[in-house]
Amino acid sequence: MRKPIIVGNWKMNCTIPEAFELVKRLKMMVSEVKGREIVIAPPFTALSSVSHALIGSNMTLAAQNLFWEGKGAFTGEISAEMILDSGCDYVIIGHSERRQFFAETDDSVNRKVKAALAGGLIPIVCVGETLAEREAGETFPVIERQLTNGLNDVRLSSSEDLVIAYEPVWAIGTGRTATPSQAQEVHAYIRGLLKNLLGEAAGDIRVLYGGSVKPENIDELMTEPDIDGALVGGASLKADSFARIVRFKVHGMAKDTEHYL
Ligand code: PGA
Repeated sequence: MRKPIIVGNWKMNCTIPEAFELVKRLKMMVSEVKGREIVIAPPFTALSSVSHALIGSNMTLAAQNLFWEGKGAFTGEISAEMILDSGCDYVIIGHSERRQFFAETDDSVNRKVKAALAGGLIPIVCVGETLAEREAGETFPVIERQLTNGLNDVRLSSSEDLVIAYEPVWAIGTGRTATPSQAQEVHAYIRGLLKNLLGEAAGDIRVLYGGSVKPENIDELMTEPDIDGALVGGASLKADSFARIVRFKVHGMAKDTEHYL
């Protein structure tokens, strides 16, 4: 059973006091939620303080990036060990903003995924097509290229060691969400691809949807069979909207059922 997971990507937002305030409100709003994983990804500067604030809560921590080398003369970079040391379980890799603004490639994603796994972190690997690629009918080839290269030579000991986020670039921060059936179609494709690339057990890797997820569309997205959760940007910066997303309902029910526990 794939346990649903909701990840809040705070991007370059929140000073340490602001992060504390947001976490304080979130903790009150989601403390009794069970049967789903709740992960937040504050900026590097707030990770260590937030990790202390999360002790005893039902939330865990992710970083938004890492560098593949272990240590050395790499000014401005952060290693897997440092991220683990800051209290993180997860690390987001290959977000489209990193590909777009910081020249990340499938090859750098691949190095980062391997470094994260070797360092004991669970990578959340982002893939997704641009609007031009979708309109040219290239969605599947683009996803296939990103996953095949990004996961080249990657070996997993368990399907829980990797999370994929499908984030169509045209849906990120635009208010324009993929329809649940558009997302489902790509998620099913990704699941098949993962089995081909990593073996049968990879069918249980969780595949998240990201791109303008909000309280208004989460329930519908989560009814799709291959959508295992969400990577949430803008709406994760407000405690009440993120808490509502975490409490998504499927067919009017709060899917907090024992089979996910
Ligand atoms: P958004 O961002 O929810 O603001 O569209 C999603 C993401 O970039 O992960």
